[in-house]
Amino acid sequence: MKEFFKDIFGFLQHGTDKKLHRDHLSHYPKSNDSYEKWSFPTYLDNDKCKWLKALKELYEMPISFPASLSPEAGLLVHGLIRNLRPRVIAEVGVFCSVSTHWIASALKENEYRPKKDAIIHCYDDFSPIKQGPYRKTSMDEGRFEFVKSRLEKAGLIDYIEFHKGDSSTNIYNSHDHLKENGGVDFAFIDGDHSIDGFLKDFEAIEPVLNTGGYLLLHDTFPEQCGGHEGPRYLIDNVNKIGRGYYEQIELHLSPINFGMALQRRIG
Ligand SMILES: C[S@@+](CC[C@H](N)C(=O)[O-])C[C@H]1O[C@@H](n2cnc3c(N)ncnc32)[C@H](O)[C@@H]1O
Repeated sequence: MKEFFKDIFGFLQHGTDKKLHRDHLSHYPKSNDSYEKWSFPTYLDNDKCKWLKALKELYEMPISFPASLSPEAGLLVHGLIRNLRPRVIAEVGVFCSVSTHWIASALKENEYRPKKDAIIHCYDDFSPIKQGPYRKTSMDEGRFEFVKSRLEKAGLIDYIEFHKGDSSTNIYNSHDHLKENGGVDFAFIDGDHSIDGFLKDFEAIEPVLNTGGYLLLHDTFPEQCGGHEGPRYLIDNVNKIGRGYYEQIELHLSPINFGMALQRRIG
């Protein structure tokens, strides 16, 4: 009888698939600590490595917090690229280029020749960055030049093709080029986080995303990352709204719990 009520209760709460809401998971370590800047791990403090030196400098700039990938999340993305070995990458949302550093450096460490063996197509409007409740500084102009100079300093710029302007429009504009070059193996969607904006980027990427290719989403827990609803919406609906079929895994990240999801197109 007890089991019966437990099952009924579970059904009413979570539906037939018995998938528990994340709040009910035993291992779901929420961070309540408050942070004001990223802390670059000392074990990565290596002046002999050009890209790590440049990345450390970037993390020390107040503008990089909190919208850039944390060093821990960046390491994860770097590790994914090192392991999954994509050749054609689309990055939506460059901001100050922290994530671009993590991705491009992985291509470099994979010993891929820039634009011959691997390329990153970067989509961003490079609009001014405003101060906000969590950001104490702004960048009113010159973001595009700033990003280019940082990637130049890191020795990574040759991997990048920039597409400045509205991301979904520019992704559609580069469809022919992407198709001619074998399609996209890995797309990191981290631009407009509203549901509409996020879906626009997803819909633009999907026709050129290879089967077996990956989509990486950031900021997947809206309750912990300023109400960004888009990535969560896609996680919950991808197999209803996508043209393809996806398997996916969600990752709860620390130190700040913005979360990530990795989706693989398998059909
Ligand atoms: C969260 S930030 C990206 C952070 C970056 N991936 C990192 O971890 O370092 C989002 C970026 O997307 C850009 N963006 C938002 N909506 C956009 C749109 N519709 N078209 C192009 N860029 C957009 C913003 O200007 C900003 O640079």
